[in-house]
Amino acid sequence: MMHPGIRHVIIAIMGIVVVVFMVILSSCDRCSQKSSTSGETSNVSPEVQRLARGKLVYNANCISCHNRNPKLPGSIGPDVFGSSKELLTARLLYGKYPDGYKPKRESHLMPPLPHLANEIEALTAFLNAQ
Ligand code: HEC
Repeated sequence: MMHPGIRHVIIAIMGIVVVVFMVILSSCDRCSQKSSTSGETSNVSPEVQRLARGKLVYNANCISCHNRNPKLPGSIGPDVFGSSKELLTARLLYGKYPDGYKPKRESHLMPPLPHLANEIEALTAFLNAQ
């Protein structure tokens, strides 16, 4: 038979273990809350993501002819800052201009780039930002 004194000591130790466990749990809780809030603040808005995507697509596909700064003329293409979604769609998908649009250049050097159909939204955002 266990000495009753020892049983009290064991119960006390178990109590301490439970308290320590709860403290660890609650501090972990706080950790995860903290990390989830910091996750939220580092989460960029869809608008910012679209802009970044547009810049990426522009740099990868357009600056061989247009300027890296879309407000300036490029090596063979004109400045394209402020291009509407309609203009970009006509140029990229069909190599055309919207009805009644007066092109900046009379040349026909730019090939259609229909593989960028899904990027027109992002390009429009980038070319109209600032
Ligand atoms: C091979 C060179 C070349 C590439 C690549 C190119 N362009 Fe062009 N772009 C031109 C040229 C040159 C013109 C002037 C019209 C012409 O010759 O087709 C032009 C015209 C345009 C116009 C019409 C401007 C206006 O208002 O008259 C837009 C908009 C445009 N480009 C957007 C883009 C975008 C966006 C990309 C990338 C996704 C791109 N271009 C890639 C050469 C290029």
